[in-house]
Amino acid sequence: MSIELIVVGAGVIGLTCAWRAASAGHDVVVLDPAPGSGASWVAGGMLAPVTEAWPGEETLLELGLAAVAAWPAFAEELGAAAGRPAGLRTEGTVVVATGSGDRAELDGLADHLARLGRAVDRLSGRELRRLEPGLGPDVRGGLSVPGDLAVDNRQLLDALQHAAARAGARFVGATVRAVLDDGSQVTGLRTDEGELGAERVLVCAGAHSAGLHPALAGLVRPVKGEVLRLGHRAGALPPPTRTVRALVDGRPVYAVPRDGGLVLGATQYETGFDTEVTVGGVRDLLRDAERVLPGVAEYALLETAAGLRPGSPDNLPLIGPVGPDGLLVATGHHRNGMLLAPVTADAVLDLLAGGSAPAPTDPRRLRRSECT
Ligand code: GLY
Repeated sequence: MSIELIVVGAGVIGLTCAWRAASAGHDVVVLDPAPGSGASWVAGGMLAPVTEAWPGEETLLELGLAAVAAWPAFAEELGAAAGRPAGLRTEGTVVVATGSGDRAELDGLADHLARLGRAVDRLSGRELRRLEPGLGPDVRGGLSVPGDLAVDNRQLLDALQHAAARAGARFVGATVRAVLDDGSQVTGLRTDEGELGAERVLVCAGAHSAGLHPALAGLVRPVKGEVLRLGHRAGALPPPTRTVRALVDGRPVYAVPRDGGLVLGATQYETGFDTEVTVGGVRDLLRDAERVLPGVAEYALLETAAGLRPGSPDNLPLIGPVGPDGLLVATGHHRNGMLLAPVTADAVLDLLAGGSAPAPTDPRRLRRSECT
C-alpha cells in the first residue's frame, strides 16, 4: 500500500509541514528516528529577518518579513491545535556594538535598511542601557528592532509534534536512506527498516537532505553552529528582556532570553557533518557574551551543543518539486528555519493542492543556473 505523503525529517520544517498537511486532510506519515532533535533542538529560536539581513539578500529579507508578520497568528493557531503554548516571545531585539569598527558595521546595516524603506532606531550606549540595564559599559551604541521576535524552540517543537499527531499525522521512527523512483515518478523510500511506498515524498531533512536522492546532490550543505544554554542563579543580574545581538571586535554573538536563563549563540563553520562542541567555540561565545552582558559570568553553564544549519548555495530556502514527479523538498533554510517555518508550510500546502512553486525559492532555480 502506498502512503499519500511521506515527510522525511521531523525538525521544525518537517513538523510544521506535517501538521499543516494533515490538517488539510492529507494522509501524512513522518519519518524520523528522533523527532524534534537536530538543529531545531539546538537553535536559539530567533525570528529575526532584520537583524539577520545582509546587503544583497533582499529577497530573503522580504521573505523573512512576511514570515515574522505571520508568526503571531501562526503561534496562536498552533497553541490552540496543540493544547500547549507555541513559545512565541514578542519583546523584540536590540543589536549592539562595542568597538568603533562594530559601530560602523551597524551604521552600515541601518543605512542599508533605510535605503530599503525599513528605518530602524539608532540608540546610544546610555539609551540601550535604559532599555536593558544588564548591558555593560563596553556597549557604545546600537539599534532597536522591536519587530524581530523569538520563540522558545523546544516549546515550539513540542507543540508541533502534538498538533501534527492530533491532526492525524503518523510518526515512524525509521532512518531514511534514500528516496526511490522508477525513472520518472517517486515510488517510495528505503529505510533502515525496509522499504515504504509513497505517492509523494517531502524531504525536510535539513543538512542531511542532499544525500537522499541524486536530484538533491549539492543543493544543501552543513553549516555548523555551537550554542550554549545558561541558567540564571540567585543573586546574578537578571537576563535581558529582549534578544540582544552584538558585534564584539567583529565577531557576532547573540543572547536570547528563555524562562530562567539565556541561549547564547552561535559559532559558524563549514566543517562537514561535525557536531562536536569545541573548546574554542565555547570560549569565544562566553568571552564575547560577557563583554556585552557582564552578569552572565554568574550564570550556570547548563548545556553546550552543536547543530548543522542546512545552507543552500544562495542562502534562500528550497521549497518545491525537484527530480522525479512526486519529489518535493522544503530545506536549505540555513539560519532561518524557525522564522520561515510558517511560510514554508503555506507554500507546501499550495504545492500539494496543485499550485506552482514561487520562483525565488523554487529549487529548480539552482539546477537552471548550473545549465547556463
Ligand atoms: N539563526 C541564528 C543562527 O543560525 O545562529
